Amino acid sequence: MKLLNSEKLPRHLAIIMDGNGRWARSRMLRRIVGHRQGVETVRTIVEECSTIGVSYLTLFAFSAENWLRPKAEVTALMSLLKKYIELEVPRMMNNNIRFNVIGNRSDLPPHINKAVDEAIRITSGNTGMVLTLALSYGSRQEIAAAARRLAGDVAAGRISEDEIDERLFSGYLFTAEMPDPDLLIRTSGEMRISNFLLWQLAYTELYFVDINWPEFGVRELHQALADYQARERRFGRTSDQLQAGS
Ligand code: IPE
Ligand code: IPE
Ligand code: MG
Repeated sequence: MKLLNSEKLPRHLAIIMDGNGRWARSRMLRRIVGHRQGVETVRTIVEECSTIGVSYLTLFAFSAENWLRPKAEVTALMSLLKKYIELEVPRMMNNNIRFNVIGNRSDLPPHINKAVDEAIRITSGNTGMVLTLALSYGSRQEIAAAARRLAGDVAAGRISEDEIDERLFSGYLFTAEMPDPDLLIRTSGEMRISNFLLWQLAYTELYFVDINWPEFGVRELHQALADYQARERRFGRTSDQLQAGS
């Protein structure tokens, strides 16, 4: 296992959990078996992140575009999701994890929303890691909705247009209460963002790994974190400036 510097962990880690289907196919199994196995990985990674001291973990679980998948797969994913949320609440309580969801909640079936509301309510007093599931989430949709609400506030005279800046706009996004991700991991070898957190990823370190989500484990997580820790985040400055501590 790579040695990690606990002072330099990402405060916010975001993950695009990809490759469940390919993992299953390579074993001649149905895609849903891959999703089920993917849930096991979620358990492992959530637990490990909370143990090592990540403050925010955001998992892309179902995209706004994933509604285009075959109905049977969508239905199976939804019931898996519900089962996961319900089963995980006691473990979240044990680990002091606060549960959160981002995405277009109104697209989700009522039974999922009920489970989500329950989990949010029960874990709301926890003070440890914030676990956010992105469900029916699409970043362009999020940005358009933010612009719509902001325009409404300007029209109603609650905000003047000169006040609009990055900070104010960020407050209209689902992620208003969170810092931007420091590190984004995507599994399965795909090198794209797939409409995930486009605004929030502006200065995030990206890490793509050629392993399917069901096979991503604690070792792979530590490898990603070690890689992150070896990077220099310059935010537009020069390396010399950073070394001089300015
Ligand atoms: C990620 O695995 C899970 C979801 C998108 C819900 P995929 O289902 O996308 O797996 P691949 O990409 O087809 O292998
Ligand atoms: C992105 O994965 C969404 C999730 C991980 C939930 P996809 O597998 O849906 O992404 P694309 O469509 O291949 O880009
Ligand atoms: Mg995929």
